[in-house]
Amino acid sequence: ADSQIYKASTTAPVNIAVIKYWGKRDPKLNLPTNSSLSVTLSQSDLRTHTTASCAATYPSQDSLLLNGQDQDVSGARTQACFRELRSLRQKLEKSDPSMPKLSTLPLKIVSENNFPTAAGLASSAAGFAALVRAIANLYELKENETELSRIARQGSGSACRSLFGGYVGWEKGSKEDGSDSVAYQVAPASHWPQMRALILVVSAAKKGVSSTTGMQTTVATSSLFPQRANETVPRRMKEMEKAIQEKDFEAFGNITMMDSNSFHATCLDTYPPIFYLNDVSRAAIKVVEAINVVAGKIIAAYTFDAGPNAVIYYLKENEAEVAGLFKAAIGEKEGWTGIRGDAVLANNGAL
Ligand code: PMV
Repeated sequence: ADSQIYKASTTAPVNIAVIKYWGKRDPKLNLPTNSSLSVTLSQSDLRTHTTASCAATYPSQDSLLLNGQDQDVSGARTQACFRELRSLRQKLEKSDPSMPKLSTLPLKIVSENNFPTAAGLASSAAGFAALVRAIANLYELKENETELSRIARQGSGSACRSLFGGYVGWEKGSKEDGSDSVAYQVAPASHWPQMRALILVVSAAKKGVSSTTGMQTTVATSSLFPQRANETVPRRMKEMEKAIQEKDFEAFGNITMMDSNSFHATCLDTYPPIFYLNDVSRAAIKVVEAINVVAGKIIAAYTFDAGPNAVIYYLKENEAEVAGLFKAAIGEKEGWTGIRGDAVLANNGAL
């Protein structure tokens, strides 16, 4: 029994925010300055696959392999996730002494991303969501998605939203211990199954400024930031939830594009300034604007995270006008290194 290896595997999809998380009120616990809202992509598109295992025969240090490369697990974020999950397992072991003492064994985590890491494609979101879910499965924890989202948030803020499928909010919360800063499902993917996301990989290079460093500098120096965090985002959160409930794509698209612009405006207003968008990103914005002008209404909406890659939301009925046009245009443009299209949404809550 001593040589037994305990194992559990899972996958977690990427989520792409339509109301961005940018700014921490508590960097240690990853407590945000504003609530945010995202769409979780499907399992079959951008995702992290993770296997968590533990055994008495493993080297005594916990380890994490990402795409075949050894990662440093000594960082506070990863440690916080390991610590919280171990302590929940310990509680189970105490209440049922017949359970194997997995909480005392070294962990080995093996993860694979099927998309570029740290290129502003929310790799850390899928990564930490999968890590937390895999260990929770390994430990047979009874905690629900909300509880797991509280733990995943400490790994990477945006990761808390990848515990749910469909349309997902992250309530910033007000408590100092972060216990109310958790993700919640606004609507399952099945509520609005026509939604599509076209992901334009402008650059697979690692981002220039990490989100943690970027956020800290923005909060410290941008004069536009308080307006965004305290007024603009709280209002748009309500409008966005309503747009999703009513399946109003024009409202959804409007708010998505305006929020992306607002976020990147605070980046530009950061001192020294942060540039995540490049000329190709701006060209994508122009193409979306032209598509909407031709359609006479909003049928496509762009959004950009901490990198130049564009995510274009649209409805299936407009596939030809949006995805079709982009695919045709990309053949003639410099700078596009790849395209991942037609991401469909994850099933309700399923990871
Ligand atoms: O979770 P982090 O620290 O990787 O930050 C993510 C920040 C954005 O992707 C830019 C916005 C978001 O809400 O996902």
